[in-house]
Amino acid sequence: MSELSRIGVAIDSSLLKKFDSLIASRGYTNRSEAFRDLIRDELVQKSWEGPDTTVVGTVTLVYDHHVRLLNEKLTGMQHSHFHHVLSTLHVHLDHDNCLEVLVVKGKASVVKKLADALISTKGVKHGRLTITSTGAEL
Ligand code: NI
Repeated sequence: MSELSRIGVAIDSSLLKKFDSLIASRGYTNRSEAFRDLIRDELVQKSWEGPDTTVVGTVTLVYDHHVRLLNEKLTGMQHSHFHHVLSTLHVHLDHDNCLEVLVVKGKASVVKKLADALISTKGVKHGRLTITSTGAEL
């Protein structure tokens, strides 16, 4: 870990009370770690604005595998981007529905485009791209 810096922050008392309540409900035992996580989250979000930045993330998809050719379409897209899809997890949720989680890595613009294409495919009931960091910059 790099050298620690201490800072003082002036904050409205009622806002601080709400913040303390929020972070307590999330399991934080001190404000410093909560502040650090907020800052890291903003930095990760910011990193995605650079289209050439290398990012990692997960794409979560829920779909009905009975929809004609849907499985083939989703798998086809993943094969077209095999170097961006590091791993997949498939769970048969019930008789009809499948949950798929893809670990993706690559340039932000490419990863976002792939996620959008998967999520917007007809028959996908819900999809979400979760962005994170390779960790190297945090
Ligand atoms: Ni399935």
